[in-house]
Amino acid sequence: MTVPIAIIGTGIAGLSAAQALTETGHTVQLFDKSRGSGGRMSSKRSDAGSLDLGAQYFTARDRRFVTEVQRWQSLGWAAEWTPQLYTFQGGQLNMSPDEQTRWVGAPRMSAITRGLLDGMDVHFACRITEVYRGEQHWHLQDAEGGTHGPFSHVVIATPAPQATALLAAAPKLAGVAAGVKMDPTWAVALAFEKPLDTPMEGCFVQDSPLDWLARNRSKPGRDTTLDTWVLHATSAWSRQHIDLSKEAVIEHLHGAFAELLHSAMPAPTFSLAHRWLYARPATGHEWTTLADVDLGLYACGDWCLSGRVEGAWLSGQEAARRLHESLQ
Ligand code: FAD
Ligand code: NAI
Repeated sequence: MTVPIAIIGTGIAGLSAAQALTETGHTVQLFDKSRGSGGRMSSKRSDAGSLDLGAQYFTARDRRFVTEVQRWQSLGWAAEWTPQLYTFQGGQLNMSPDEQTRWVGAPRMSAITRGLLDGMDVHFACRITEVYRGEQHWHLQDAEGGTHGPFSHVVIATPAPQATALLAAAPKLAGVAAGVKMDPTWAVALAFEKPLDTPMEGCFVQDSPLDWLARNRSKPGRDTTLDTWVLHATSAWSRQHIDLSKEAVIEHLHGAFAELLHSAMPAPTFSLAHRWLYARPATGHEWTTLADVDLGLYACGDWCLSGRVEGAWLSGQEAARRLHESLQ
C-alpha cells in the first residue's frame, strides 16, 4: 500500500504543492481547519454576494507562475481585472493608471483553489495540533483528539505562527518559523443600494487608516445588484485596533472612506468586518521553502517568499520539488 504525503493547509501554497506532487505520481491527503479551501485567498458568501475579503488580485512576474495563471485563465478559473485605479495621498484623490496586468479568481477568488482541489482527498474542519513521528512514519493529531496517518512526509502550508507548533519535531525549522512576524489586517465590506458617485474601482491609500479599497462589481463575474466595496486597513491601524468590536471597526473605516471621497456617504445596506490575524509577513524572505529532508518535514507559504499569492504558489512548488527530489 502507498503511504500518502500529508499536506496541512489548503491555501494556494498547500494546493500548489499538492498539484505538483500529484503530477509526479505521489498520493496526497490534505487537511484544513476551515470548512473550505483558499485560506487568505478565499471568498466569503454574504447577503451582498460573494466577497473577496483577503487577497484582492494578484500579479504574475515569475515565468512559471505566468504559465500557471494562463492555465487557470484557460480553465475559466481566473480572469484579468482592469480597474480604474486611484491613489489617495495627502488628502488628494488622483487617477493612477498603469500597465500592470492584474488577475482575480472568476467568478470569485476562491474559484482557483476550488479548481485545484478537484479530485483531491481532503479533510475540512480539521485543525491539526501536532505532527509526530511513529516508528517509521508520520502521524497527525487533530483538535478533536482524532489521529491521522501513517504518512511518509508532511508538508506544512500554514502561516508561520501556526506552522511553528506543527514543526516541533524539527526544532531548527520551528525556530525559523517562530522568528517570522506576521501583521494583521482588518477587512470591511460595505454594500450600497445606490451606486456611489465615483468612477474609482481600486485605490492605493496613504495617510489614512485605510490601505486599499476595491469596488467588487468591477471584478469579472461578480454580483452587480449592490455597489459593494472592500476596504482594508493598514497593518499599523489593524494592530492598534486588533481587539476593537466589528461594529466599531466598520464605523471607523466607513468614516475614513467618506473622508477619502470628500462626501457624506450614505449608510450601507449591508456591512461586515473580518479580522485577518496573520495577513502578511512584516518583512519578505528568500527561503522559498523550509525543509528537513532527512526527517521528511517541509514548510511552505507566502512567508517563505514575497508575502503574495505568487510567492505562496512558488513556495508550494519548491516544497514539492525538494520532496520529490529526495526520493530520486
Ligand atoms: P493561507 O492562504 O493562509 O493558507 C493556509 C491554510 O492553512 C488556511 O486555509 C488555514 O485555514 C490552514 N491552517 C492554518 N493552521 C492550520 C492547522 N493547524 N490545521 C489545519 N489547517 C490549518 N496577495 C496578493 O498577491 N495580492 C493581494 O492583493 C493580496 N491582498 C491581501 C489582502 C489581505 C487582507 C490578506 C489577508 C492577504 C492578501 N494577500 C494578497 C496575500 C495572499 O492572500 C497570501 O500571500 C496567500 O493567499 C497566502 O497563501 P498560503 O497558502 O501561504 O496561506
Ligand atoms: P501591484 O504591483 O499592483 O502593487 C504593488 C504596490 O505598488 C502597491 O501596494 C502600491 O503601493 C504600488 N502600486 C501599484 N500600482 C500602483 C498604481 N497604479 N498607482 C499607485 N501605486 C501603485 O501588486 P503586487 O506587487 O502583486 O502586490 C500585491 C498587493 O497586495 C500590494 O498592494 C500589497 O500591499 C497587497 N497585500 C496586502 C496584504 C494585506 O494583508 N492587506 C497582504 C499581502 C499583499
